[in-house]
Amino acid sequence: MTDVKINDSDLGSIRDHVVFITGGASGIGLATALLCIKNGAKVVVGDRNPLPADAVQRNLSYVSLDVTSWESLSAAFKEVLKQHGRVDHVFANAGVGPKTNLLEDNVDENGDLLEPSHHVLDINLKSVMNTTALACHHLKKSPQGGSVVLIGSASSFQVFPAVDYSTSKHGVLGLMRSLTTLLYPKFPIRINALAPSWTSTSIIPGDFMNALGIPFQGPETVARSAVLLMADPSRHGQVIYSEEGQLLEIEEGLRAAARNLVQGDREPIANTVDKMRQAQEAASFFGDGAEN
Ligand SMILES: NC(=O)c1ccc[n+]([C@@H]2O[C@H](COP(=O)([O-])OP(=O)(O)OC[C@H]3O[C@@H](n4cnc5c(N)ncnc54)[C@H](O)[C@@H]3O)[C@@H](O)[C@H]2O)c1
Repeated sequence: MTDVKINDSDLGSIRDHVVFITGGASGIGLATALLCIKNGAKVVVGDRNPLPADAVQRNLSYVSLDVTSWESLSAAFKEVLKQHGRVDHVFANAGVGPKTNLLEDNVDENGDLLEPSHHVLDINLKSVMNTTALACHHLKKSPQGGSVVLIGSASSFQVFPAVDYSTSKHGVLGLMRSLTTLLYPKFPIRINALAPSWTSTSIIPGDFMNALGIPFQGPETVARSAVLLMADPSRHGQVIYSEEGQLLEIEEGLRAAARNLVQGDREPIANTVDKMRQAQEAASFFGDGAEN
């Protein structure tokens, strides 16, 4: 684990870059949009809610977006390209809080258990995958490439009894990890994730956490880590955890711990990544678009 210290000058390289942020009308997304603007970027926010009136300013535009709709997401990317001719960074940030824990016995008229709601997975995971697919589709065509930042959570890797939420955030971590070796350097696209702990936003307001005695941070802390991941061309496959204003890069440590756990003192059986690459070249194991 590495402490992440961010100087204002570390963020300056996003000047004139075009940033698209889903869920950017509030909380972490809005704080990131404002920090991008402060550093000279042009930002398009896609959200189901409009920007707050006091945020409206030059270089910040809004497109109405429902991330659960592929058509809406696809149209939002087209709007970014129409406005700016390109996109350099995409922050897949839109999300909602937990809704169901799988243990609720909601039954139909026969007493049979009803299928649980997957609303949270649809927004927090499936829509993040769709946003990432569209981001990569457009960034692949850009000679200068760019980056994708995914919103995970401390619950991406910790025990957190919010089943649908935590499951979705574990999925986001898996998404980032699995794309890491498929993107850069084959494509000029870096991908990274954020893992914020308790952060005061409309999902979980500061007053609520104060009442429970939970220490928390403001969305500006998370925004700084989001913009750093866009601005620093050396960051790829990283996860920045944030808690009470402290930032840590944790992915390297998580990978080392996993390696030690399964490998210990033994010689590695195989280099998994290399073997996976060989399998990918030899077969359509990784999916070639065909239904199975
Ligand atoms: N607040 C925390 O403690 C915390 C911690 C870890 C991760 N996160 C994640 O941060 C992300 C941002 O949340 P936040 O805490 O800033 O909350 P927030 O409610 O302030 O912001 C979420 C934004 O997403 C938008 N959104 C939700 N559903 C949408 C949809 N279907 N289409 C388009 N936009 C949609 C909302 O309108 C809102 O503007 C979420 O993914 C959340 O899970 C939050």
